[in-house]
Formats: sequence, structure tokens, C-alpha cells
Amino acid sequence: MKTLPFALRARARTPLFLAPQAGVSESPFRRLCRSFGADVVLTEFVSAEGIVRGSGRTAHYLRFDDEERPIGIQIFGADPETMAEAASLVTEVYGPDFVDINFGCPVKKVVKRNGGSGCLRDLELVGRIVRAVVAATPLPVTAKIRSGFDESSRDPVAIGRTCRDAGARMVTLHPRTRADMYSGQARWDEIAALVDALDVPVIGNGDVRRGEDAHRMRERTGCDGIMIARGSHGAPWLFHQARAALDGRPVPGEPDTRTRFEICIRHAENAVAFERDGDKAVREFRKHLGWYTRGLAGGRRLRQRLFQVRDLSEVREFLGRYLASAGERGCSGLAGGFIVTGSRANPDPLRGPPAGR
Ligand SMILES: Cc1cc2nc3c(=O)[nH]c(=O)nc-3n(C[C@H](O)[C@H](O)[C@H](O)COP(=O)(O)O)c2cc1C
Repeated sequence: MKTLPFALRARARTPLFLAPQAGVSESPFRRLCRSFGADVVLTEFVSAEGIVRGSGRTAHYLRFDDEERPIGIQIFGADPETMAEAASLVTEVYGPDFVDINFGCPVKKVVKRNGGSGCLRDLELVGRIVRAVVAATPLPVTAKIRSGFDESSRDPVAIGRTCRDAGARMVTLHPRTRADMYSGQARWDEIAALVDALDVPVIGNGDVRRGEDAHRMRERTGCDGIMIARGSHGAPWLFHQARAALDGRPVPGEPDTRTRFEICIRHAENAVAFERDGDKAVREFRKHLGWYTRGLAGGRRLRQRLFQVRDLSEVREFLGRYLASAGERGCSGLAGGFIVTGSRANPDPLRGPPAGR
């Protein structure tokens, strides 16, 4: 068994990671997912140039709370010196548990400047970036990669080896190329090949949407950890379900609508408390509202309303009205069992983490 380069709070066979996600994996969501059983979290990717320039918005992305640990700060950029300087700064100022390098972002704006998956066109550059960052921080340095830039350069093992040889202590693979973006299926066989090729932990990522998928991914790949992104949108309890599946326990069903809304409101409250500009926080929270209400009977109308909310009271009001009318219509799914276990960090996950931090 390969050992992670940082300590976990509780021993977990095959730890679960909340994926770095721009605009999603912010502190309130990270804490919520931790309370549902995510063992490790990461910040969204942060520009090395922004860190070095000391931009205020960048500082906002880097804030985290001790209860989120172990946490990795993810940085991106194509210039080894700037990446090294950024790693040194985040180490000194924020002291995360590890520094993760993004070699996967497919977004045009980033790739155009050779950042994210743009680096995958030049493995020599990948090696130089990892070496520079490793030399700049005493913290473990890890890398998150895609399988290649496009089909012709697809070679996740070569990319993973380049990172490892340059000093990366853990590699996460999302087995799609940049050209794939999010189409098709993640090629889990490539995760298995990387697990065989590297002597450091390999974290599998891609298409884990249900608890059972986590179990299947481990069976098929032998990965040392599992990272989840989209499956957790509007469903932070997926970590709880994935843990049950990995431990060979029955996978809990989906929470009933009332419980789902309670979790959503708690999340919204924490998001507003975290962001100094409350109006902006609510605007940015609308996407979560869409996700939390996906698949509900009559959900389209509810979502139309929620996409226009301006403050928390409107969120409470619309969700409350929906519950009341669904009760009148005798909709199923308003009551049911969904039992979540607490963690030391948060003994009562449904109440969520304390607000305002
Ligand atoms: C909204 C969104 C934002 C993302 N932002 C980042 C990011 O900042 N850094 C990163 O390495 N990957 C980012 N990703 C990619 C995810 O971390 C993950 O690799 C990908 O979504 C595949 O995992 P999934 O199938 O579980 O979603 C993002 C994905 C999404 C959907």
C-alpha cells in the first residue's frame, strides 16, 4: 500500500478527495463535503501569477479553515520561476498540507498561455515546473494531470512518470485528454496503468457519480484514493455513500427532499457568511440551488424562481413553499431515511459546519 504524503484525520482505506473546482470547491462547500466524509479537500486552481502579484481576489481563494485539513492548495502557471515563488508564498502565508500543481485545466484562456493542460504539450516543461516547485517548498508537492493534450500525445504513464521523477509525491489522473474536455467516458484502464507504473500514490478521478462507482473504480484500478467533482454537485452526501460502498456496507439512499433542502440552506448560509458581499454570495450560489433541486417533481418552475433569488430569505421562502405544496400534492420523497454519521470535525453533518468562518 502506498502512503499518502500527508496525514489523514481518520484512517481510511482508499481516502476520498473533493476535487479542485473553480467556482465550486470554496471553503463552505469543502467544509460541507468534509462533514459528509471527504477525507481530503483541495482549493480551486489559483493562478501563480495572481499569487505573486498579491491580488485580493486570489487571497480570497486561498483562505481555509483548520477544520478543512488535510487540504491542498492547487496552483497553475507555465513559468517555473513564478510557480516556485507562488508555492513558497502559499507555504509561508497559508501553510496548507500540500501544494498541488494543475496540469489538467482545459479552459482556453489558461491553455493559451500554456497553463493547466497546455503544459502537457511539453513534458520537459512539466518536469521543470514540478522541480522548481519542489525546490521552493518543504511541503509535499503533488500533481493533477489529464491523459494528454490530445489523442496523438495521449500517454498518462509518461506524464505521471515525468511528475514523479521531478519529485511529485502523489499523482491524480483524470483520464481524458484536453481535447476530450468532458466528452465520452473517463478511461479507468489508464488509472490502472498509472497505478502499476508509479511508486507514489495514484488518485483516480472521473465519472464517480454514485457510491457504487467509487467501489468499482477501486476494484478496476487499484487506485490509492478517489477524487470526486461533478457527482458532488448538489449532493455532498455522495461522500457518505461512497464510503459505505468502499467499506462494503449497504449504500444509503438519497436524502428525502426536506433533508436535501436543509442541507442546501445550511450550505447557503455558510456561503453568505464566508463571502463579505452577501448579494454576490447569493448570486454565485444560484448554481448550487439548481443542482440541489435537480430531478424534483415540478423542479423546473422552482429552479426558474431560484435562479432569480437575491437573498437568503427568498431561498428559504421558495424552498419552503415547494415543500408545502409538494406535501399538499402528496408527493413521495418528502420523508424517508437518510442517516449520516458525524465526524469529529462535525458531529452533526446535517447541521453543517459553524457559520461565519
Ligand atoms: C466546475 C468545475 C471546475 C473545475 N475546476 C478545476 C480546477 O480548478 N482544478 C482542477 O484541477 N480541475 C478542475 N476541474 C476538473 C475536476 O477536478 C475533475 O478533474 C473533473 O471534473 C473530472 O471529475 P468528475 O468526473 O468527478 O467530475 C473542474 C471541474 C468542474 C466541473
